[in-house]
Amino acid sequence: MSRLTHQEILNWLRETDPAMLEKLFAQADEVRRTHVGDEVHLRGLIEISNHCVRQCHYCGLRAARTQPRYRMTHDEVLACVHQAELLGFGSVVLQGGEDFGITADWMARVIRAIKAETELAVTLSLGERLPHELLSWREAGADRYLLRFETSDPALYAAIHPLRGATPSDRVGQLRLMREMGYEIGSGVMAGIPGQTYEMLARDIELFEELDLDMVGIGPFLAHPETPLGANDVVTAGSDQVPSNEWMVLKTVALTRIVCPEANLPATTALATINTVDGREHGLESGGNVFMPILTPSPYREMYQIYPGKACIDEDATQCNTCMRGRIDRLGRLVGEGPGGRFTRKTQQREQTRNADARWKPTAEPVKKVSPELNVLQ
Ligand code: 5AD
Repeated sequence: MSRLTHQEILNWLRETDPAMLEKLFAQADEVRRTHVGDEVHLRGLIEISNHCVRQCHYCGLRAARTQPRYRMTHDEVLACVHQAELLGFGSVVLQGGEDFGITADWMARVIRAIKAETELAVTLSLGERLPHELLSWREAGADRYLLRFETSDPALYAAIHPLRGATPSDRVGQLRLMREMGYEIGSGVMAGIPGQTYEMLARDIELFEELDLDMVGIGPFLAHPETPLGANDVVTAGSDQVPSNEWMVLKTVALTRIVCPEANLPATTALATINTVDGREHGLESGGNVFMPILTPSPYREMYQIYPGKACIDEDATQCNTCMRGRIDRLGRLVGEGPGGRFTRKTQQREQTRNADARWKPTAEPVKKVSPELNVLQ
């Protein structure tokens, strides 16, 4: 049962009174503290490839753009992973465009090497991939997968995500499949996509809850001038159009925390891009509990511009690490230790969560079940 009705979510999304919004953020902050504690987990983001076969109307990596492309080597990825370990992170996120130059075997070898050489949790974020590929990566040891559905509205989704030939696109289906495979699953949306209405964003939040997501990433839509949605004459939803601003993102993060109390919610780089001064802090104060410092080395870092003006692009991994830890410290929060997954928090915190969470059921365990036809993983 939802903790907020559809109408309540909608009203909050339309709320603009700062005094009212402070109440929402305080409530989300309290839910965050009760369910996931004061720890802020650091996930080292390694952008392993900027090749992409897709033509998403908002993304700077879309295939149609002529730009230098790269794909990191096995050894380059492993060097970043070891740096993550040295910097004290509990997990790495290997992200890339939808790049079939990243073969199932290559990726599985990288995952096996990370698991053999480190204690890190491994999160993948490689777009829509085939079931057998996802399964082989899970078998190789990948723990989590991030795939934003971007919008739950089928018409808006179709309008901004051209199909690749006859290949259907079903991100929610892939998320459900990955959960069956035993992945922790993460998704998310952009707030302020041209054509996105308050109704749609409310339904996105309800879908987060329905999917019982383990991780949810929310950022503002940022117009990239060299993409179709960055054009000046782009059509919006008029007075129903969700604006792309910091308040909108913070409201969405806060509501997500309330409907998904146990989820890991990052204060995203896109949020830091629209407010470089303290966007990340605001994310942590409205329900967020994760930072994703960028580990991608130069010159690749500059070549992974999914949107213009991306924050942190001119820093290196060590600077990002120092900056993030300082921000966490100044807020009086703690840097998380260990992998920091939804089901692998420190014991004390899990106990706290169990006692506080009315929804917790004794049978709830990390999903390790797999459909018989998939036939893997115990
Ligand atoms: N503005 C904001 N976020 C974007 N992303 C891609 N392009 C943009 C943009 N122009 C986000 C998408 C994607 C994630 C990796 O980056 O939500 O899932």
